[in-house]
Amino acid sequence: MISIGIDLGGTNIKAALVDHKKGFLQTTSIPTHADLGKEHVFDRIALAVKDLVEEHNADPIGVGMGLPGMVSLDRKTVKNPPNLPGWKVENVADEIFKRTGYKCVIENDANLAALGSAHFGKGKAFNSFIMVTLGTGVGGGIIIDKKIYRGTTGMAGELGHVIINYHGPLSNSNTRGGIEAYLGQRFLSRFAADTIRQNPENSLYSKFHKNFDKLEPVDLYHAAEDGNELGIDILRQAGEKLGYAIVNYVHILDIRKIVVSGGVAKAGRWLLQPAEETALKYLMPPFREEFEIIDESLGNDAALLGAASLAFEELR
Ligand code: BGC
Ligand code: NA
Repeated sequence: MISIGIDLGGTNIKAALVDHKKGFLQTTSIPTHADLGKEHVFDRIALAVKDLVEEHNADPIGVGMGLPGMVSLDRKTVKNPPNLPGWKVENVADEIFKRTGYKCVIENDANLAALGSAHFGKGKAFNSFIMVTLGTGVGGGIIIDKKIYRGTTGMAGELGHVIINYHGPLSNSNTRGGIEAYLGQRFLSRFAADTIRQNPENSLYSKFHKNFDKLEPVDLYHAAEDGNELGIDILRQAGEKLGYAIVNYVHILDIRKIVVSGGVAKAGRWLLQPAEETALKYLMPPFREEFEIIDESLGNDAALLGAASLAFEELR
């Protein structure tokens, strides 16, 4: 059985042809160009689907897709995705069907990262775990007894918007002081730029002071690996905030395994170690037992594999 997985992000559209036994047959990635509008994005996704099918002469059962926003219970409609400007309530499944002739089922991207991890990644080891995805936005997926916990209308697990500081910055979804407003890619880059500006003697300053727009979280990671104290400190501060957020998730859900994936998670131990230390410090003592933060080595592929898995589950 073959399906197509799509991971629609604010920056890139990733697409894959997936065999339910062999895994990836082929993957591609194209820029989203979200600024050109949603019709353009639907067209590009349809094109990616057609290319994959033609190249392999494949006969997929349909398309599973992850999107960076909340999704309706029937898994057709996305609602006001904060990082896709101009999108309101959009029936994406119908738009893709119209353009490709393939049935399409959609789900929140972080929920799919959790599903991908549960089937193919570190999540395989646990019945229940919490997935946190660090990218343009910060997403959450809650797996309880091997299944995505969807809430009453399909939208549970918006962990990036759980408030850790009510004096904190506004996110694109208009919540204040959620972890996304600190660790979302652009927010983290901006915080880093502000901190580096105050340290003109640091080599990060000489590297970026002419164009701070170029600074990305991955640059902090490289600086940290090279022993740059400021880079290490910026990631430590970000990691501590993530730790506080995680304390809240654990206190609510009583789930002790936190799996982290996504682009910013590449900052690896520089971010996750301070997060784990902070969480262990502020969790109520009984919750500390078996508590663990785990780096999902599938990275961004978790969501793509989850998207394909969803198609296998829902469309066959
Ligand atoms: C959205 C989530 C999404 C996450 C990661 C957040 O801003 O609210 O729905 O899962 O970004 O893309
Ligand atoms: Na979610």
